[in-house]
Amino acid sequence: MTIRFDGQVAIVTGAGNGLGRCHALALAARGAKVVINDLGGARDGSGASSDAALAVVAEIEAAGGEAMANGANVAKFDEVQAMVEQVMAKWGRIDILVNNAGILRDKSFGKMPIEDFDLVVDVHLMGAANCTKAVWDIMKAQNYGRIVMTSSSSGIYGNFGQTNYGAAKMAVVGFMNTLCIEGEKYGIKTNCLAPTAATRMTEDIIPDQRVLDLMTPESVTAGLVALVAEDGPNRSILCAGAGGYARTVVYETDGIYLTPEEQTPENVLANWDKIDDATNQQELKAGWMQTNKFVAKAAKSLGIELG
Ligand code: NAI
Repeated sequence: MTIRFDGQVAIVTGAGNGLGRCHALALAARGAKVVINDLGGARDGSGASSDAALAVVAEIEAAGGEAMANGANVAKFDEVQAMVEQVMAKWGRIDILVNNAGILRDKSFGKMPIEDFDLVVDVHLMGAANCTKAVWDIMKAQNYGRIVMTSSSSGIYGNFGQTNYGAAKMAVVGFMNTLCIEGEKYGIKTNCLAPTAATRMTEDIIPDQRVLDLMTPESVTAGLVALVAEDGPNRSILCAGAGGYARTVVYETDGIYLTPEEQTPENVLANWDKIDDATNQQELKAGWMQTNKFVAKAAKSLGIELG
């Protein structure tokens, strides 16, 4: 069945360029009214211009769709709130939020000014938090919402020169985990997208044009559209690039139990292979599940009956 968004309103942040632009075009082509948010700055976050956002709005309108441009800086809560008020006044609902806006300030950690760490966390993590906060009560009242955080393999796995970016990109995974728990009873689903695509963000990092040609934004956008569909998943990290789609999952090993007498750092190290053994590893869907697992092992070993 074709995925459609007729009657739905979507906000895509950083939609003036790259992946955000491609996501916005696809959502509009499938019937959504789309807010093209973009500060219009350079890749490092400097400067601002409305040109890119207005060009995407023109493109959507030329194709018969509906869109509005917005220049809010996602790192500033008051600007984000004003954007959401403007959208509600015009279209009266918000069904989809794609937290996509992003910048880079790459340097090895030793050489990185702390201000560059702050700024990158501000745009990626606080930008996502600001936008989500501004739409959360609206989605709760509608009993419907689809939110996507844009993560990155740099955060999930690490990448030289990207401590700031990687920290912020993994932080949004943590943000998603709890939003899923809190949003479930209100029909709000939250997922993460970990893309890899040829955009201005990657153009000088990957020098081979044949590789860049494979890494189309459109291939990533197919994954994004699936994540925000009514029947889309919840609490998933979808990795997408060059036509490849995979899910990143955090598993916890079953682990070991040490009695009170055995609980020494030497014993922890001595048992490292067993602690690391992936047999019976599990995907835990809430923090309390880890506590329950450990307490159950301890109680069983000590012969304590828990109610
Ligand atoms: P891009 O640089 O082409 O687009 C990012 C857009 O965000 C720009 O139009 C920019 O003006 C806007 N923006 C930046 N700061 C903003 C702010 N404070 N408020 C509002 N808009 C702002 O980059 P690209 O590649 O399209 O990246 C999109 C997202 O995907 C980013 O979150 C990025 O970190 C992430 N990503 C991209 C990868 C890739 O391979 N291109 C890899 C992993 C993650």
